[in-house]
Amino acid sequence: MSMGAFPKETAPLEQTEVRRIGPDLYAEALNRFRTLLERAQRCGLPEPTAITLATTDGQGYPSDRTVLLKAVDERGFVFYTSLASRKARQLAANPQAALCFFWQPLMEQVLVEGAVEQVSDEEADAYWASRPRTHQLGVWASWQSSRLDGPRTLDLRWVEQALRFLGQPVPRPAYWRGFRVVPHRIEFWKRRAARLHERVYERHEAQWTKAWLAP
Ligand SMILES: Cc1cc2nc3c(=O)[nH]c(=O)nc-3n(C[C@H](O)[C@H](O)[C@H](O)COP(=O)(O)O)c2cc1C
Repeated sequence: MSMGAFPKETAPLEQTEVRRIGPDLYAEALNRFRTLLERAQRCGLPEPTAITLATTDGQGYPSDRTVLLKAVDERGFVFYTSLASRKARQLAANPQAALCFFWQPLMEQVLVEGAVEQVSDEEADAYWASRPRTHQLGVWASWQSSRLDGPRTLDLRWVEQALRFLGQPVPRPAYWRGFRVVPHRIEFWKRRAARLHERVYERHEAQWTKAWLAP
């Protein structure tokens, strides 16, 4: 995936809280993230946009899984999933998430923590339209994270959906949504010989701050 797949940075910014508070430090952190992602994309990794996404259920029990980053801009970090999924149900109970990017060839890690909101229908529709038809049919065929009778069940459901939408565009199901993590903490880690390995940007109420952490 190229960085061109992400929304243009020149798009009008929403008047988010982030814009009103320390935009310089936040912009610095985002620029550093983008530079790392571009470097990771040039490394030939199969999934340079892969994220470990951690959520918790209503009792505070954590779980994690891999998702793909589909957009990043001043508003936050976006991934897509099904409202049926375990992660989406957890986010409904506790709309907070942690993201971990680790690019092994670079030995660089970025950690993002923040509140989670759903992206607009328009934004989700635009992403959906960019997906291959086979993937779109796969979303209709799968009630994510539910139990299946057996491995062939999914194939049969996929064929059913292919016939259902034969000769027409496949619409985005209302349960397929984008989620945006609006960061309040971004931490960078790089393995190096120097003593200072980590750098953390944090938002405390109305201010972004930047500090060094002991490795
Ligand atoms: C490389 C990779 C990329 C994935 N990308 C996504 C994704 O973008 N969205 C998604 O819902 N699941 C994605 N998955 C599947 C999830 O890891 C997970 O198995 C699924 O979403 C169900 O998780 P849950 O039951 O915790 O909600 C991906 C898995 C891998 C290995």
